[in-house]
Amino acid sequence: MPEDLLSKIDTSKLPHHIAIIMDGNGRWAREKGQDRLYGHFHGVESVRDIVEGCAELGIGYLTLYAFSTENWDRPKNEVDGLMELLVDTIRKEVSILNKNNIKLHVIGDKDMLPEYARNELQEALDMTSQNTGLNLVMALSYSSRWELLNAVKHIAIDVKEGKIDPEQIDQNTIQQYLATSNFPDPELMIRTSGEYRISNFLLYQLAYAELYFTNTRWPDFRKVNLYEAIIDFQNRERRFGKTGDQLTSNAALTS
Ligand code: FPP
Repeated sequence: MPEDLLSKIDTSKLPHHIAIIMDGNGRWAREKGQDRLYGHFHGVESVRDIVEGCAELGIGYLTLYAFSTENWDRPKNEVDGLMELLVDTIRKEVSILNKNNIKLHVIGDKDMLPEYARNELQEALDMTSQNTGLNLVMALSYSSRWELLNAVKHIAIDVKEGKIDPEQIDQNTIQQYLATSNFPDPELMIRTSGEYRISNFLLYQLAYAELYFTNTRWPDFRKVNLYEAIIDFQNRERRFGKTGDQLTSNAALTS
């Protein structure tokens, strides 16, 4: 029962930022003898449930890998269908986002998106910009290597123009040039459908994230699965390179 699992979540130890690789739509559809797009279509129901679940729990940030830079190489009918589905969903859901105080963000190479998609997205971003609840970050036409390349180029340009001193570049500078500069790093990364890869997703930001893999295909992933992932996260010891003993003595000093 979802309620039983929900009661096991320690609300004082929630991850501030959850990132999800929504994998397995194609396989889910094929297993049902259906077209891959049928899987993406059903994947939207999971998106709805998980966004709602995160908002209810009071999670600060949820990043969803909705379309990777590499996904542009899929067959044209799948790319077109997926793009329409993404834009259509965002258009239809924007009033629900507002009702739930959810602020939409998009990270990725927006120049690659068709013009109608860019316009619709901008409208949804503007319409939700004043919301102060869950930050829903859609990674669209996103890949980490694109993001890092982009960051390096912009740092180089700013060095050339004398805006920054190369000697002063530190980790904070890099952070500021990433597409995620306004968000904290994810503490929990979930990937569905039994693949154990990061697939060019938030490579820099996931440095200390707990990784959670499940065999559940994305269209079957629901709040109850989210709760399981959060409970698993809460049972892990996060050491950030320190020893377990150091963490226990620090906790004793601060309590
Ligand atoms: C991966 O499954 C999923 C995607 C590439 C697209 C994810 C998009 C959705 C769930 C629609 C979401 C809508 C919104 C509004 C975010 P896959 O096709 O790689 O599956 P496979 O590995 O089984 O082939």
